[in-house]
Amino acid sequence: MNLAALEALDVQAGERVLEVAFGGGDLLGRLLGAGAGEVVGADASSAMVARARRRYSRAKGSRLLEASVTALPLPNGSVDKACSVNSLYFWPNLDAAAWELSRVIRPGGKLVLCFQTPKAVRAWPGHRFGFHAWEEEEIASAMGGAGFRDLVSKRGSDRKLGEFVCLAGLRGPA
Ligand SMILES: C[S@@+](CC[C@H](N)C(=O)[O-])C[C@H]1O[C@@H](n2cnc3c(N)ncnc32)[C@H](O)[C@@H]1O
Repeated sequence: MNLAALEALDVQAGERVLEVAFGGGDLLGRLLGAGAGEVVGADASSAMVARARRRYSRAKGSRLLEASVTALPLPNGSVDKACSVNSLYFWPNLDAAAWELSRVIRPGGKLVLCFQTPKAVRAWPGHRFGFHAWEEEEIASAMGGAGFRDLVSKRGSDRKLGEFVCLAGLRGPA
C-alpha cells in the first residue's frame, strides 16, 4: 500500500510532503528517498512519534508532529502533497479530516488516501475493535466536499491486507 501511495503521490524534487498517521514510519523513509524537500509526519500516537523520531534522528528534512488529522499544527496551504495509508478507519470524523487536509494543502496540491476495501477490513477479526469500514464512495464524497477535484481511483492487492484502494485528488482553487 505504501508503494501504491508513493506512485500516486508522484513526488517531485523539493516538494513538502505530509504523511498523516505514519505508524512505524516505513513510508516516511521512502518519501525522503524519493527526493521530497521536506517530509512532515503527523501521528496521534505519542509512542509512534517517539519511535519515528528515534528512527529518523539522523535524516535531514523530516519533521515529526504528534497531532490528529483533524487538528494539524500547520499553516494554510503549507504543503504541496499529503497522504495517509491504512489509517482512516480510526479517524474521529472523515469530513472534518478531509477539510483539515484541504486547509493545509496548497491549491493545486495533491491528496492520496489508501485504504483497505470494506470486504478486506471485515475479513480481519480485529476489525471489531474500533475500525470503520468506509466505502470508497463515502471517502470520495468527503474529498469532493472538501474541495478535491479530478479524483483518480486505483485498486491493488496486498498479500497480507487484501484488496485496497488508492484515491488521489487535486486541491481546488482557494
Ligand atoms: C494501522 S496504523 C497504520 C500506520 C502506517 N500508515 C502503515 O500503513 O503502516 C494506523 C496509525 O494511525 C494513527 N492514527 C489513528 N488515529 C489518528 C488520527 N486521528 N490522526 C492521526 N493519526 C491517527 C495511529 O496512531 C497509527 O499510527
